[in-house]
Amino acid sequence: MEGVGVDPVGILYGDIHPTVVNCSVSGKLRQGDYVRIKHHEDGWVLGKVDSIEAKTNLSIEKSYQIMEGNNVEIQQTISAQIVIIGFLDQRKVLQYPRTPFLAGTPVYFAEDEFISTTLNISAGKRGRAYVGLIYGHNIPFSIDINSMVQKHISVMAKTGGGKSYLTGVIIEELIKNDVTVVVIDPHGEYGSMKNKASESEDMKRFSIRPVSYSDRIITFTPDHGDEKLTFTLSQINVKELVSIMNLSDPKSYVLPLRKAIDAIRLSSKDYDFDDVIKELRRQDDSSLSQTLEKELSYLKSLNVLGKRGLRVDELVVKGKVSIIEMKGLPPDMQELIVQRLLYALFEARKKERIPPLLTVVEEAHNFAPQQGKAFSSKIMRTVASEGRKFGFGLLVVSQRPAKIDKNVLSQCGTQLILKVTNPNDLKAIGNSVEGLTSSSLDEIQRLPVGTALVASPELPIPLFIEVRPRETDDGGKNVRVVR
Ligand SMILES: Nc1ncnc2c1ncn2[C@@H]1O[C@H](COP(=O)(O)OP(=O)(O)OP(=O)(O)O)[C@@H](O)[C@H]1O
Ligand SMILES: [Mg+2]
Repeated sequence: MEGVGVDPVGILYGDIHPTVVNCSVSGKLRQGDYVRIKHHEDGWVLGKVDSIEAKTNLSIEKSYQIMEGNNVEIQQTISAQIVIIGFLDQRKVLQYPRTPFLAGTPVYFAEDEFISTTLNISAGKRGRAYVGLIYGHNIPFSIDINSMVQKHISVMAKTGGGKSYLTGVIIEELIKNDVTVVVIDPHGEYGSMKNKASESEDMKRFSIRPVSYSDRIITFTPDHGDEKLTFTLSQINVKELVSIMNLSDPKSYVLPLRKAIDAIRLSSKDYDFDDVIKELRRQDDSSLSQTLEKELSYLKSLNVLGKRGLRVDELVVKGKVSIIEMKGLPPDMQELIVQRLLYALFEARKKERIPPLLTVVEEAHNFAPQQGKAFSSKIMRTVASEGRKFGFGLLVVSQRPAKIDKNVLSQCGTQLILKVTNPNDLKAIGNSVEGLTSSSLDEIQRLPVGTALVASPELPIPLFIEVRPRETDDGGKNVRVVR
């Protein structure tokens, strides 16, 4: 790899730090390119072009001369700033050189093999999720699955940026690795993963074939899924019940409802909405109870709360993906479902009644908002901070990083960021992702669909990747039409 027969693309010059160097550019070096530079003590070191600029001697005065048709001689030099990633020492640990490089040292393009081994990202191994190729290279990129389950993961992008598509890619990899998954799916986009994708030209480049995972996926919906999504009404307390009703003065309804439910409980532990309505009618027929009856009938029509809800071991099956489809349900009912579900899963996991699992929470800013409170806020925080002890991973997906509870977002070890343009969201990302340079933050605003930035403690610097095509049908494309 001495560079025999290979021309350097630049030479180190000016002030040189162990972690950042300046390079005069002679070849076709571009922003984001990986380079190798020989250090006089440590051998070949991997670096990445962080920014690049041309310096010219053309003054504004002289530019007017060009406008007037005169010939002006222009001198131009191109300078790149290179961030040093490091080299593998004898124990295969990534290290920075401890002394500066020598000025005048040539800089070469790094070969794929060198990039891949130095970054330690080889895909194909069991226990790793293959999510795409390093941007501009034919280097497979994978994420360690254990670290996803133990240290959580987030997928952020503006709306339409490709979050659900990428999340689908991750779920496919989890299926292949027999990881148990629960997906909280507010828009009903993930059920389509049962069907295989149609063949596309791009698949070859990524070594992907269409696959159907119909035998690995179970959908739960209030009406038409594989299984009926139901929760036990008697486990919802009166205050919660009243607060999901559409009432102008919720507090005044707590007492009459509690009275009715207490009366039912004297004779039976389980009850449904009809039982509550019947009891209310028996107790009194004030306008208060008529309003309550109307609201209870509405909640009944949502078909989610009943006499006996699903047991946790009916909801979670080892090595399978359970998709909780909540499409069409009002937001507060969705929050209540997420709260009940996460609580039940977390308790069951603590007692090891269910296998280690990863729970995907789409639209996470609704279920763990930074401002205000959702029913599910508390349990989301608990799972984010304590889940790792029990093998309960979270994958949070959101288009508003600035609006997710910081206590949840900051617990995510791996972060996948697609295109983001909102300044507040960029700020939130800048604050939560370590090692993000201002030029990467700038690039995030211009990412094409299908390119993501990955940051994780496993990686020496955040990397740009091209997301691999889906093996399964992508439900996102259908959802957009009807929304
Ligand atoms: N890597 C990719 N390759 C090809 N198409 C993609 C890729 N990523 C996303 N798309 C397409 O881009 C569109 C938007 O993607 P997706 O639904 O995943 O976005 P989203 O960020 O989840 O949006 P929303 O905020 O509305 O949920 C879809 O039509 C999807 O098929
Ligand atoms: Mg989406």
